[in-house]
Amino acid sequence: MTGGAGYIGAHVVRTLLDGGDDVVVLDDLSTGRADRVPQAATLVKGDIGDRDVVRRTVREFAVAGIVHIAAKKQVGESVEQPMLYYRDNVVATQVLLDEAVAAGVGSFVFSSSAATYGMPDVDLVDEDTPTRPLSPYGTTKLVGEWMSRDVAEATGLRVLALRYFNVAGAATPELSDPATLNLIPLVFRELTSGSRPKVFGADYPTPDGTCVRDYIDVRDVAEVHAAGLRQLAADPDGPRFRVYNIGRGEGSSVLEVLDVIGAVTGFDMTPEIVGRRPGDPARIVGGVERVKRDLGWSARYELREMVESAWAGWQQRG
Ligand code: WQD
Repeated sequence: MTGGAGYIGAHVVRTLLDGGDDVVVLDDLSTGRADRVPQAATLVKGDIGDRDVVRRTVREFAVAGIVHIAAKKQVGESVEQPMLYYRDNVVATQVLLDEAVAAGVGSFVFSSSAATYGMPDVDLVDEDTPTRPLSPYGTTKLVGEWMSRDVAEATGLRVLALRYFNVAGAATPELSDPATLNLIPLVFRELTSGSRPKVFGADYPTPDGTCVRDYIDVRDVAEVHAAGLRQLAADPDGPRFRVYNIGRGEGSSVLEVLDVIGAVTGFDMTPEIVGRRPGDPARIVGGVERVKRDLGWSARYELREMVESAWAGWQQRG
């Protein structure tokens, strides 16, 4: 798998190892950390856009299936440096797919994102909702889906694209997200530095005026990769390409998340309402029936468990 030294990837590695799979991680450690990869997995330090490294790794380890998670994932950065995103998320994916097909790899699970949808004006976004990404990040994920779909149609490769919604939580404190980019860690940072949590806009057309998202625990996200790989292996004549929303199908507003954070941490959660952040959809919640029906997967962890585990990780940061 690629990106196994990162936040989501490291969780997937553990879940696959627990299920008895052999795991080889290809990761350039640009944002990942070697100490997140357990001894039971093999770590190859290398760039997924480096054809020689990819070719050697896929062949040396006789790779049967690939989980491709390595990517850049910062929406704002992608607006400023789109070419970085096209290189790492599109060009590198092309190299990986090319080498996978050449080596006869059977299965490919691709990390996609709800950012592919943009701002759909629907209550529940299902996989047939039109994709209109609003950032280069979202566009590169959509291109990755299209590329893998087209390759799958033309070859024997079978692909699942997993569109993650808002991933949070951690299996252990050491595995928590080291980046402070998303709502929950950003609020932890404000609280622990003596500031008030910031709410980016309280005048949205939602019940409490704040944006609604579908928060999904990283442990559930890891589980669906294992379920997906199992299914691809068990049903070699199934569809060549499928896309699934990976969420809970339940919306939580920013104020609801703050309430949970207050209950977990004991901090006073009186927020500071600041202006809207450009590009934020009022509501984006995934319809998750398709993945439940096809893979028998649905989320098990609640928002409170995500916040508790993320808080344990935050407190243990060095
Ligand atoms: C959640 C809500 C903010 C911080 C992003 C990417 C998406 C995916 C997940 C990558 C929004 C509000 C936030 C704060 C706030 N990324 N907020 N105060 O934007 O839904 O999704 O991360 O794969 O593609 O777009 O997540 O956690 O940044 O924000 O009020 O201090 O919290 O405005 O409504 P977002 P987020």
